[in-house]
Amino acid sequence: MKPWLGANWKMHKTVREAREYVARWNSLVEESPLGEEAEAVLFPPFTVLAAVGEALVGASLGAQNVYPEDGGAFTGEISPPMLAELGVRYVLVGHSERRHILGEEDAFLRRKFDALVARGFVPVLCVGETAEERRTGRTDEVLLRQLDGVLGEREAFPGTFVVAYEPVWAIGTGIPATPEDAAQAVARIRAYLRERFGAPADGVPIVYGGSVDPDNVGGFVRPGVSDGALVGSKSLEADVFFRLAQNALEAWRKG
Ligand code: PGA
Repeated sequence: MKPWLGANWKMHKTVREAREYVARWNSLVEESPLGEEAEAVLFPPFTVLAAVGEALVGASLGAQNVYPEDGGAFTGEISPPMLAELGVRYVLVGHSERRHILGEEDAFLRRKFDALVARGFVPVLCVGETAEERRTGRTDEVLLRQLDGVLGEREAFPGTFVVAYEPVWAIGTGIPATPEDAAQAVARIRAYLRERFGAPADGVPIVYGGSVDPDNVGGFVRPGVSDGALVGSKSLEADVFFRLAQNALEAWRKG
């Protein structure tokens, strides 16, 4: 496995800003390539996906959302074929902001996950407990419920996907989990996947997200803790995200 590093831009960047970012990113990877040793993925908003996809080198393209139908009367939504045409490979499913602000529930998230798998995308399933759930000792229960809500009824291993452990209280707060807490949650998720799908599940990257920055990423991205990071605010500048990716790769190599 190689470290997986996602840049979730959320609702940021106009076309002009996105083009500037990609030009800078491209020059950084041309100078010192991350190469085949890491998988970097940018998740720009829909309105700049085409501009980013046309120019981007040294990273894959991801989308922040999808609607689980190929087309139809779904005002404001975006379908899997629309994303495929732009070269999108990864799609976020169940990010805490969509669960908590947009009210998306497991049954709907399962439809998205299944539609993505059926169309050959790589879903990135996000799970994580709130501060209150952690305080009351329900972290494991919440993780299992969220995993089972999306994966529970599948008969076969879905093929490539990623799981992001993102404790809600660590997202955008500047207060990350400790690497020990992250490792514990990742191990719990790994155990669920093994139990559910057997050996093939060992190839599923399980990454950590929540206030990851270039200085703390090395604590999270290493064998025995997690297989990568999903990054929000520290992904919004190409230089910062690139440095973060380099630091992650270095920590991963050290093992
Ligand atoms: P953050 O966001 O890095 O700003 O905490 C992470 C995420 O929402 O994926």
